[in-house]
Amino acid sequence: MHMNMPRRSIIYEGKAKVMFEGPEPGTHIMHFKDDATAFNNQKRGLITGKGVLNNRISEYIMNRLGEMSIPTHFIRSINMREQLVKAVDIIPLEVIIRNVAAGSLSKRLGIDEGKPLPRTIIEFCYKSDALGDPIVSEDHIISFGWAHIFELEEMKGLAYRVNDYLSGLFMGVGIRLVDFKIEFGRLVENDELRIVVADEISPDSCRLWDAKTNEKMDKDRFRRDMGGVEEAYREVARRLGVLEESEQQRASLRAVTPGSPPRKPSTKKK
Ligand code: TMP
Ligand code: ASP
Repeated sequence: MHMNMPRRSIIYEGKAKVMFEGPEPGTHIMHFKDDATAFNNQKRGLITGKGVLNNRISEYIMNRLGEMSIPTHFIRSINMREQLVKAVDIIPLEVIIRNVAAGSLSKRLGIDEGKPLPRTIIEFCYKSDALGDPIVSEDHIISFGWAHIFELEEMKGLAYRVNDYLSGLFMGVGIRLVDFKIEFGRLVENDELRIVVADEISPDSCRLWDAKTNEKMDKDRFRRDMGGVEEAYREVARRLGVLEESEQQRASLRAVTPGSPPRKPSTKKK
C-alpha cells in the first residue's frame, strides 16, 4: 500500500453510498456508488455514472441550501465521487415532502399520480431495512424516542423550507419537484446540539418531472424499467449547470450528426 494512501476505514456501507472515516475528527467522506436498488433491495442494478452525477447534484443543492442559511452536513467536494461531510448522528427517519401525488401515496390512497395536492404533505418513515421503512406518525416518533419533540418541529420547519427553496430552484430550470425524501443528523457544535440536513438530495431521492412534458427525470425510470436513467440524471445535472465543461462539450458534440456543418452548442437536448 502507498504510504500516502492509508486504507480508509469504512464507517457504513449502504446501497448507493459508502461512508468512510474523514481526515479530521468529526468528519466523514461520503462516496457515491453507481449501484441502485429499489423496493427494499429486491431490485438491484448499476447506473453508469450515477455516483458522479449524484455527487455533483447533491453538492450543488447542499451549497445552495447553505446559502439560504439552511444548515447541512456538507463541507466540501473532494473528487468526482466523494465529498467531505460533518460526522452526524443520523436521526432514523426519512422525511418525505409531497407537492404532487405520486408513488406510494398514490398507491396507498388511490389518488391519481400527477394530481397536484391541495397543500404540501409531510410524511415520516422509520428507517429500518428489516421492517421495509414503514410509514409512522409523529406520535410514534415521540413515543418511541426516535426524535425529541423539539427535533421533530425543527425537522418539519427545515423540510418545508427546503421544499420552498428547491421547488423554485427546479422550476427555474423547467423541472417540477413532485416529492422528495430528506434525512437529518444531530451534531454538537459550540456545545450546542444542532439538527442539519444530511445524506443526499439527488434524483435518487426526489421525483423530478419535466415541467412541460411531465417526463420523469429521476429514479422512477429505474424502479419502473423505463430506460434512459443515466441520460435523465445527466439532464438534471446539465440544467442545474453542474456538468463539467468537457461533459457539456461532449454532450453537445453528441448532438451534432456526423457530416453536418458545425453549429453552436444547442441548449436543448433531443
Ligand atoms: P414513495 O412515493 O415511494 O414513498 O417515495 C417518496 C419520495 O421519497 C420519492 O421522491 C422517492 C424518495 N424515496 C427515497 O429517497 N428512498 C426510499 O427508500 C423511498 C421508498 C423513497
Ligand atoms: N432505495 C430504496 C431501496 O433500496 C427504495 C427506493 O428508492 O425505491 O429499497
